[in-house]
Amino acid sequence: MEYVKQRRTIRKYQARDIEPALLNELLETAGRASTMGNLQLYSVIVTRDPSMKKQLAPAHFNQPMVTEAPVMLTFCADFHRTSVWCEQRKATPGYENFLSFLNASIDTLLYAQTFCTLAEEKGLGICYLGTTIYQPDVLIDTLKLPQLVMPVATVTVGYPDEHPDQPDRLPMEAFIHDETYHDYTPADIDRLYAYKESLPENKHFVEINHTETLAQIFTDIRYTKKDNEAMSATYLAALKRQGFLK
Ligand SMILES: Cc1cc2nc3c(=O)[nH]c(=O)nc-3n(C[C@H](O)[C@H](O)[C@H](O)COP(=O)(O)O)c2cc1C
Repeated sequence: MEYVKQRRTIRKYQARDIEPALLNELLETAGRASTMGNLQLYSVIVTRDPSMKKQLAPAHFNQPMVTEAPVMLTFCADFHRTSVWCEQRKATPGYENFLSFLNASIDTLLYAQTFCTLAEEKGLGICYLGTTIYQPDVLIDTLKLPQLVMPVATVTVGYPDEHPDQPDRLPMEAFIHDETYHDYTPADIDRLYAYKESLPENKHFVEINHTETLAQIFTDIRYTKKDNEAMSATYLAALKRQGFLK
């Protein structure tokens, strides 16, 4: 439990490569994660080739980790392989729908997070790239993803070359509810977010972004309604392209 308590995202990596045997062991062991129907509804594209990283970088807003990390993993929800298996075994697959995408996505994220926890336990550093779902078409084309395969998460991995401060977390009472959901009063919100809002780095963040509150950095700058709606439309179109939606 201790190394999870100590973990933090790593965005700077040593030039040192990850030994193929270690990476393979981690990828294989992560397969022990719970999986729907024991179907393992995921595939992982392993990127080590610098020219592939270069092609993928723009889709990740050129975040430097993409080209600087020795390994990048694109975790994909995959009902393709299972469907091919069914067809080859006189079974008719019925997975061209949204529910199947959700099931495969859940499987994929459980696998991805199990991989990350194991990797960190072995002294590697990881960073998730949320940009994976922003321009999925570039990833689909570059990684040659067939029908019923959708990118859902990317993780860069390498030996850490930094030791950043651990970011804060909300107190447990902010997200644990006994028996039923207990909605938040204004006083609850004030109490639960007080520590986060009091941190000098967050106050500084507000200052340099010229917003009145920390929350406004998220709504007005980082994750805006306009961007969220545009990227939702793009992702829905990609789900149609990949056959998960009619
Ligand atoms: C779904 C998801 C998407 C993320 N996307 C990015 C990203 O695009 N770039 C980045 O630098 N960090 C990204 N992160 C890392 C988060 O910023 C980080 O986990 C969070 O700030 C908490 O920091 P910690 O992991 O060090 O505790 C992402 C994390 C998750 C789970």
